[in-house]
Amino acid sequence: MIAKTLTRGRTLDHVAAVYDVLSPLMLFGQEARMSRVCLEFLSSPDIVAVLDIGCGTGTLTVEAGRILAERSGRVSGVDAAPKMIDVAIRKARGFANVYFDVAAAEALPFFDASFDHSISTFFFHHIDFGLKVRALDEAFRVLKPGGALIIVDVDIPTNIFGKICAWAGYFLFQQEEIRENIEGKLRLAMERSRFGAFETVAHYQGYITVFKLMKGNV
Ligand SMILES: C[S@@+](CC[C@H](N)C(=O)[O-])C[C@H]1O[C@@H](n2cnc3c(N)ncnc32)[C@H](O)[C@@H]1O
Repeated sequence: MIAKTLTRGRTLDHVAAVYDVLSPLMLFGQEARMSRVCLEFLSSPDIVAVLDIGCGTGTLTVEAGRILAERSGRVSGVDAAPKMIDVAIRKARGFANVYFDVAAAEALPFFDASFDHSISTFFFHHIDFGLKVRALDEAFRVLKPGGALIIVDVDIPTNIFGKICAWAGYFLFQQEEIRENIEGKLRLAMERSRFGAFETVAHYQGYITVFKLMKGNV
C-alpha cells in the first residue's frame, strides 16, 4: 500500500475499487468522447513529456502513454488517493513509459519546466477555490514555456439538461467545490492563476467544458 499524501481536496480512496464502473455511468457514456478530445492535443511529435493531474485510476494516463510510446515519450499521473494510484499502477502494467505518484496537485513533486503538456479531467471540482489557484500555479510551474494545460471539468451550465446534471451532482455529493465550478469559480481561478487566461475548446452536455491554458513563450 502506497503512503497517503496530505490535502484538503476530496480524495476518492473509498470508491477506488468501483470507480471505473461508476464513472462512465455518471457521464452517460460520454467519457470516451471527452478523453478523445484530450488525446487529440497530443498529436504534435514535439510533445514527449506529459503530466495527468488528478489522474484517478489512470485510464486516460495509460491512453496517453500508448500514444507517446510511439515517439519514446513518457507520461506521469498524480493523484492524492493512494488506492486510486494502486488501481492505476495495475492498469499500466506493460507500459514502461507510464509513471504514477501519490501527490497533491497543489504541491507537485516535479522540477520547474518538466513537462511539454498537461491534462486534467474531472479533478478541479474536487478542490476548493484556494487549492484550484494553487494547483493551477503548480501546473504552470512544471510546464515548459509554450506548453498547454487541457482541463475537462464541470462548468457554468448552459442549458436545462446541464443545469439539472450539474446541480444534481452538487446535491448528491454535497460538494461545495462542484457549486464553485457551477458558479464560474474555476474560470475565475484560471484568471487569477499564473496562466492569467484560458480559452474554451469544447462544451458537452450543457455543463462540461474543455479548457485550454497556455504557458506563454517566456
Ligand atoms: C473524479 S476523479 C477524476 C479522475 C480521473 N482524472 C478521471 O477523469 O477519471 C478526481 C480525482 O482527484 C483526486 N484528488 C482530490 N484531491 C486531490 C489533490 N489535492 N491532488 C491530487 N488529486 C486529488 C481524487 O482522489 C480523485 O481520484
